[in-house]
Amino acid sequence: MQTIKHTFIGPIRQAVTMAGLPLKGALKDEQLEIISEAGILIKNDKIHQVGNYWDLYPEAQSIGAEMVNLKGDFVALPGLIDCHTHICFGGSRAQDYAMRNAGKSYLEIAKAGGGIWDTVTQTRKANLEKLVQLTLQRANRHLKDGITTIEVKSGYGLSVAEELKMLRAIQEANESTYADLVPTCLAAHIPPKDFQGTQRDYLKSISEEVFPVLKAEGLANRIDAFIEETAFTADDIHSYFQKAKEMGFDITVHADQFHAGGSLVAVDFGAISADHLEASTEKEIELLASSDTIAVALPGASMGLGVAYTPARKLLDAGASLAIASDWNPGSAPMGDLLMQAAVLGTYEKLSNAEILAAITTRAAAALNLHDRGQLNLGMLADIVLFPTADYREITYQQGRLKPSKVFKRGIEV
Ligand code: NIG
Ligand code: FE
Repeated sequence: MQTIKHTFIGPIRQAVTMAGLPLKGALKDEQLEIISEAGILIKNDKIHQVGNYWDLYPEAQSIGAEMVNLKGDFVALPGLIDCHTHICFGGSRAQDYAMRNAGKSYLEIAKAGGGIWDTVTQTRKANLEKLVQLTLQRANRHLKDGITTIEVKSGYGLSVAEELKMLRAIQEANESTYADLVPTCLAAHIPPKDFQGTQRDYLKSISEEVFPVLKAEGLANRIDAFIEETAFTADDIHSYFQKAKEMGFDITVHADQFHAGGSLVAVDFGAISADHLEASTEKEIELLASSDTIAVALPGASMGLGVAYTPARKLLDAGASLAIASDWNPGSAPMGDLLMQAAVLGTYEKLSNAEILAAITTRAAAALNLHDRGQLNLGMLADIVLFPTADYREITYQQGRLKPSKVFKRGIEV
């Protein structure tokens, strides 16, 4: 018999539920549902009720809920979601940072044999245990910042065995953290230098030898590819994605980072998300806006490389759905501070609070094809973050310096 545990949190000055918002297009702050003097009643790992604290109090007491009595001012948001990271890696690329600041571009470093390949070498050197430990450390740092769901990509293994090693490390790390890690296979990150054969031969070997293992071991449900000059062409990727779709994987794409083109492939394949988009032009913006593919901006990569931001304002005004993620990785985005990056993108791209917060909660959930989180609403996972303020607007205004006081993951305070 399953025991039922109730928890009651409050009083909360403002609970910003993120419920009832359209998935696509521009948002105004007035569209946010804000419950003042709120209480959140949790049943096991899910949200049971969100409403006025004093209205819910008698019920919470009568069912013997554990009371989390808050003293002071707090704003509640759904647990934040980082829908694009590469936090499973070995080593450092401090060298790249220095080289870029001395005038070499990211693509030049990659063409000279550094960049992603450097991290592949360092990640291959790390054993499974080490990779689990590194991934866990980074995931737990994110969790402290209120990020309760974290997508994690492979892509620094680039062989059948090494890609599987990475995905098994992500799976193991997932078992040891309260955060939910959502794994993605990015074996199509760059063509591995040591593979004997063409790029297509490599992709074929991955689809034949890795895809079935992902299914059999439940290692990943999502397939990603980097479409770019130094990575794979749209043509290379076609049959790879075809195979992935046939096998029932969700598709996501590293698209339009330096050159436009990847978003076309994303929309063609009905990808769940197209991420980066720094180089997207009006044509790609229109295309994404008319599709169900979520546009994911990665301001951490723009900051890391000193390049333009994703045209977030234009995407939203055209009617696209916009999520924001950290892209935390050792090369282009080593900072890994989602809230700070989302707030800074907001100042450059003139995003409303509603647009920024939706981009790291409900719209980020959609970018992962997850429908059980991202909102404080009946039946959703009890992933809740409490910030020490009376006004939700302080969260973005302080550009990431306001840290959460409490984080709940599936109803448990972590
Ligand atoms: O999303 N663009 C390709 N992949 C990563 C960077 C990975 C790396 O530089 O190690 C990105 O920016
Ligand atoms: Fe990335």
